[in-house]
Amino acid sequence: MRNHRTLLALLLLALCAAPTPGLRADSAPGPRDRVLLDAGWKFHLGNDLGDGLNLAKAGSAYGAAGADYSSASWRTVDLPHDWAIELPFDPKADAAHGFRPVGEGFPDNSVGWYRKTFDLPGGDAGRRIWLEFDGVFRDCQVFVNGWQVGHHESGYSGFKIDITDVAHCGEKNTIAVRVDASHFEGWFYEGAGIYRHVWLVKTSPLAVAPDGVFVYSRFKDPVPSGPAEVVMQAQLANASGAAADAAVTWTVLDPEGVSVATVSAAAPVEALGTQEVRQTAQVRAPRLWSPENPVLYRLVTVVTAGGRTVDRVETAFGIRTVGFDANRGFLLNGRPYALKGTSNHQDHAGVGSALPDALQYFRIERLKAMGCNAYRTSHNPPTPELLEACDRLGMIVMDENRLLGIDGQHLALLEQLVRRDRNHPSVGIWSMGNEEFAVETTQDGRRVVATMQGLVKAMDPTRPITINADVGDIFSGVNEAIEVRGWSYHVGPAMDAYHKEHPTQPNVGSEQGSTVGTRGIYADDPARGYVSSYDDFAPDWAQTAETWMGYFATRPWLSGGFVWTGFDYRGEPTPYGWPCISSHFGIMDTCGFPKDNYWYYQAWWSNRTVLHIMPHWNWPGREGQEIDVRALSNCEEVELFLNGRSLGRKALAPYTQLKWRVPYAPGTLSARGYNGGRLVAESKVETTGAPVAVRLEPDRTEIGADGRDAAVFTVSVVDAQGRVVPLAANRISFDLEGPGRILGVGNGDPSCHEPDKVVTRAAPRSVELRTWRWKKVSDPYPPSLPEEAPQFDDSAWAATDVFADAGPLKWHEKAVFRGHFTVDAKDLATPVAELRFNRVAGGTSVYVNGVKVGGTVDSRTPAIYDVKALLHAGDNVVAVAAANYGPDPFGISAGVLLQLQEDPLAPTWGRSVFNGLAQVIVQSSTQPGALKLTARSEGLETATCVLQSQASRP
Ligand code: GAL
Repeated sequence: MRNHRTLLALLLLALCAAPTPGLRADSAPGPRDRVLLDAGWKFHLGNDLGDGLNLAKAGSAYGAAGADYSSASWRTVDLPHDWAIELPFDPKADAAHGFRPVGEGFPDNSVGWYRKTFDLPGGDAGRRIWLEFDGVFRDCQVFVNGWQVGHHESGYSGFKIDITDVAHCGEKNTIAVRVDASHFEGWFYEGAGIYRHVWLVKTSPLAVAPDGVFVYSRFKDPVPSGPAEVVMQAQLANASGAAADAAVTWTVLDPEGVSVATVSAAAPVEALGTQEVRQTAQVRAPRLWSPENPVLYRLVTVVTAGGRTVDRVETAFGIRTVGFDANRGFLLNGRPYALKGTSNHQDHAGVGSALPDALQYFRIERLKAMGCNAYRTSHNPPTPELLEACDRLGMIVMDENRLLGIDGQHLALLEQLVRRDRNHPSVGIWSMGNEEFAVETTQDGRRVVATMQGLVKAMDPTRPITINADVGDIFSGVNEAIEVRGWSYHVGPAMDAYHKEHPTQPNVGSEQGSTVGTRGIYADDPARGYVSSYDDFAPDWAQTAETWMGYFATRPWLSGGFVWTGFDYRGEPTPYGWPCISSHFGIMDTCGFPKDNYWYYQAWWSNRTVLHIMPHWNWPGREGQEIDVRALSNCEEVELFLNGRSLGRKALAPYTQLKWRVPYAPGTLSARGYNGGRLVAESKVETTGAPVAVRLEPDRTEIGADGRDAAVFTVSVVDAQGRVVPLAANRISFDLEGPGRILGVGNGDPSCHEPDKVVTRAAPRSVELRTWRWKKVSDPYPPSLPEEAPQFDDSAWAATDVFADAGPLKWHEKAVFRGHFTVDAKDLATPVAELRFNRVAGGTSVYVNGVKVGGTVDSRTPAIYDVKALLHAGDNVVAVAAANYGPDPFGISAGVLLQLQEDPLAPTWGRSVFNGLAQVIVQSSTQPGALKLTARSEGLETATCVLQSQASRP
């Protein structure tokens, strides 16, 4: 037994030690495979390829959706991918979406195509094969091997497609995805493309249904003590034509991997049927999950039938309870627990909405370092990896649905959200939506929210439900129905009055705060779009940090709140528009660099002793003028000094800040913090010298060589003493050597128009293929098609102009067209060679040098074939068979080209520092080795930094 335990513990330790966080918890060796399908997609931006849909005939999607189409010349991208972030800013574009020319008004930039081929081994025959998309923005059509297999509109919910019937085992398979981001779903930067992971899942025909495991725990007492009762559910799906006498065994593993409970249930499933089974087990001395102690258990669900294990799913979960009390506020494990939360959108500097998993961890760690314990996924379902980061690092999540609605689609999206996320211990509260102005106070609103709340409760009896309501002391409408009253702003008498009138309804500050400020800026600058970062300015609907925190501190029934926002996000520039392209509500900027309010929140949210003084102390030309100096601290008293001379000691009331007016003199501004008269903290800002060097600091010392892991480098410009120069704006260029790539760059400047991404392409080269002959035939269908053979003598055939506006074939005529072209050594050396027909009407098959490259050709879009492997030096032959069954002329027209594409040029990366700082995000490849980042700037000492990319441990 001991050995067994040790082995399990070692196994778990090894898993925990893997450098890449974020791997989904439910993949484990066994009868189920779950493979990441992120690498090596082809991408085309443009609304020029039609929609691919063939509504007349099955399995015959056309153009870029079809199985034969070549995307060899398209850009290669890895997922997650956001094409909106690659577009240049445009003052005519939507301000709320960050002035990227995508979406409404920009049709050419709003459609993107992705294609990927993947192999399925012959041994997969008989298994169920699924594609799982974690999120695509938005409205996507998915095609596999020419079949339309899925249509999903929501830009935020994931979806799963069973492709078993159209998958080709033992062969190559092609996925094509057309993504249409023409419509917005929100009023903030949303990105565009397949911006979350894609997975390939293989199971037995009898298996746990998608999201079919549900595990939660409950206790006898409201404050958990003694054993936990763990409730386990499994939904099985049987895709086979025979009934199965199945059984489910659940094993609970504690954090060390030791089994602490095992139970089973019989689970007979009818042919083509589903079955839900349920059991409970006792865990005797559970370790409770909390943000401070994020202890994860694992549930292993094993399905057996006919003496065989047919499925095995591992699910991470936590043992804990959540709830609300109308007077004591939010309860975690039965005890009042003030929510110190932030609301956030999902974009980050450099990468837009396509975050590598490591960045989710980076962001959650930044928030936790501030003392934050709660995260609202405003205003949409998050990516699953964010929830995993919150599970593992400890963060309570308010998981938000995108839109109210009772039609099939909206309810299905809500159901997917709850079924997908309900095992995460971090998810503590469901939010039905955000500020639904038009219906918040109506009876429609009440009924819709009641219906949605009922649906959620039926799927998850354990979590409270709220909605972020932007009304004051108003009960009528959504607040009548919702379990927990959510407050979007309205700090003041409205809250007290509401609570008095509805004393049994719990409350939460679902959206609060909203100081507007730009990092390192201490005076408003409308021309540049910057706002002073003293905690002085909030929009008229919102409050400064000091205002809302002070109010909530004396009202525990409000449960605490979620600041708008933890991080700046693209879009919603406030209060100034262009050139400002980004919001400044964040406590941190888009890179996660703290603004001064960070220390205000840290002072009142964390257990640390905090003493921060602001502003910086570089004010050349302002000698003798008074500067507004503030101390953000949780010390009882703070004394300020300028160049060693005391400027007075002041007492600090909780949730406030201290202020001085200090005549500027260069040197050192310092502060001392006292508790009970004892010196407990010291802090200083110094006048720096001129910039002399660039500095690079990574957020870690090693990176996993898995092609997914990412490191975040802070770039700073420092003076001779190594101090960050607070006004520095130097332009820095970056080079990366070794097995990895730069994913993006940023600097947190809300008005910076420098690119986050550098995308390069070599100019394509096209050769016109003009030598064609044709001949009418009686049967243009294989196998009786000798005319496709390269050696076939077509010298007596009539010449035809394939660059004409229409082909020569009349009604009921059939023909073969043959083209000849010469290829030289230079052409053959080009990495991509495609044959492009601008239009083929009535085409039945296409051959290059005798090899069939395509079947029925659709005339709506160009037909493009990958011919790289088929060409040889000298004469090459193309044969196209065609038949006309209609009145219009058919055949080849509008031109035929050989398209040659070189590899992309090496990108040149650069970014200016903003107030001394910038950020570079580097992603590993699957090769281990040293990754060396170099940062150069004219006149400054160069910085280099080496990270070891390590092969993941088993
Ligand atoms: C809120 C809204 C947020 C954001 C914010 C800007 O009312 O919920 O999404 O728009 O205003 O201040």
